[in-house]
Amino acid sequence: MESNFISKPASTELKVEPNLLELRGGRMSYPWEGVQKELDWLPGGYLNKAYECIDRHAIGSRRDKPALLWEGKKGETETYTFFQLKRETDKFANVLLGLGLKRGDRVFFFMERVPEQYIAIFGALKVGAVAGPLFSAFGPEPVKDRLLDSGARILITQPSLRRKIAGILPELPNLEKIVVVNKYGRDSTPLAEGDLSYEALMEQASDDFQIAQTTMNDYSIMHYTSGTTGKPKGAVHRHFAIVQQYITGKWVLDFHEDDIYWCTADPGWVTGTSYGMLAPWSNGVTQLVHEGGFHARTWYELIEKYKVTVWYTAPTAIRMLMKAGEELPRERDLSSLRHINSVGEPLNPEAIAWGHPVFEQAIHDTWWQTETGAILIANYAFMDVRPGSMGKPLPGIEAAVLDQKYQPLPADTDGMLAIRPGWPSMFQTYWNNTEMYNSRFRNGWYITGDQARYDQDGYFWFVGRTDDVINTAGHLVGPFEVESILLEHPAVVEAGVIGKPDPIAMEVVKAFVAVKDGVEESEELLRDVHRFARTKLAAAVAPREIEFLPSLPKTRSGKIMRRLLKARELGLPEGDTSTLEEG
Ligand code: PRX
Repeated sequence: MESNFISKPASTELKVEPNLLELRGGRMSYPWEGVQKELDWLPGGYLNKAYECIDRHAIGSRRDKPALLWEGKKGETETYTFFQLKRETDKFANVLLGLGLKRGDRVFFFMERVPEQYIAIFGALKVGAVAGPLFSAFGPEPVKDRLLDSGARILITQPSLRRKIAGILPELPNLEKIVVVNKYGRDSTPLAEGDLSYEALMEQASDDFQIAQTTMNDYSIMHYTSGTTGKPKGAVHRHFAIVQQYITGKWVLDFHEDDIYWCTADPGWVTGTSYGMLAPWSNGVTQLVHEGGFHARTWYELIEKYKVTVWYTAPTAIRMLMKAGEELPRERDLSSLRHINSVGEPLNPEAIAWGHPVFEQAIHDTWWQTETGAILIANYAFMDVRPGSMGKPLPGIEAAVLDQKYQPLPADTDGMLAIRPGWPSMFQTYWNNTEMYNSRFRNGWYITGDQARYDQDGYFWFVGRTDDVINTAGHLVGPFEVESILLEHPAVVEAGVIGKPDPIAMEVVKAFVAVKDGVEESEELLRDVHRFARTKLAAAVAPREIEFLPSLPKTRSGKIMRRLLKARELGLPEGDTSTLEEG
């Protein structure tokens, strides 16, 4: 790789020996010990993310510093200082206590990106509960799966979202209370019977709260993530993850005291909590939260208006900006931007090349997962970007590429990307699924499910996934979840779901369905199956394309052969088909 993109000069002091970055292969000594001391901890050696992110600033020199700059869908704005966030989260923690919430209980959030979601999540952390944010674009089925599996006792939501999932609520035996945030009284429908008003509860609540004495190993946040088979699994993180979220904010996102940071991810996905809450606020950094979705013109306007300095976004968003053309960014002053990062999918070199003149700097790719809790591989701010590479492992992270026997492979060889377990933000379990959790560890390594290689200089390159999980616009979709919904349609008898390459979203969900005997394959039926899937799932997860097939290719044991469907779709060789169903 010759044409490296030079980063803007970074002024971060890296608090580890520089040569640690170059170490590969053998075990590295962990730099976490020093980092741990940069956090405040609670008396008695307790640790709580809410204290590290909010209270320690609110009682210190950042008391009146804006923590949250919020811009609503309709252009409304609100600002919360660290002190105000402390007061609101203390109040909400009291609300939750009053509702009987106890340490370790799960409380879930099905909300838009409004300040109340941030307040409610940190309020739950203060109580010592486990917070589970859900993507607001989900339909009823994904919400039901997650609430059922986690056994959530309390759900915080908003009127329109509550209406969307009304049908599944009677099916949730553990759900005791629903708290509804009716922002600005925007919604005129009265509260459903038994529901509680966030505003009314907060009005009564005391702002005097003692944070729970959570230990570093107590669970704090959980996010559901999809695999090839079965329902999504709840990856659970502990309070100690904050150590790594904090330090990657410094080392990778290059946070400085005066930064205005914008993370475009939704809290329903791990980037939206680890880097849309925990990393910036543990560093005492001001962050922008935009309630609205992607809109090229608005995004450039926001960067100019708020003078955003550090920006964390995703390849699909960058490709959508590319598609919107060069005129829009030229109309805006984007010179405040100092450092741009991306995550979630491969960042193609074309996107970096496009962004270089537009933003006058390289976009820095980072790699991590729901399970890793924080960035593990990155193009650091001070490092020259190799377009197409995910960068190098963080100090203290030992990454390797393994063969089928879980043995490390040399440079320039494709294999399974693996990480040596033990980093602070490593997931602690899959909720109710220890077996699946254990299966992710082999021969002393955590197996990521990605395929990768590293080059002679230690830069890692993403090759693909080792499973059938689909990555559409940075969202992982499990084919099984989509297939099971399609099979619920009265006309569908078989379904197979694959990721079809797409120039913008990387992959889109494509489904193949076979209909029941006697049912006619018509355009109308196709539209109906589309509609059915979108209503139950979410536009982001539902199939973009559906195609009828007389029957689906299956193994002798009856498993749908997604690999074959994909090969046929792409016009690739079909490989070994000896286990295919006969006839
Ligand atoms: O396949 C990799 C891809 O996204 C997966 C993790 O997805 P999720 O758990 O939803 O977390 C997303 C945000 C952290 C990975 O296993 N992925 C993530 N970052 C990159 C990537 N693929 C290529 N390049 C990346 N930088």
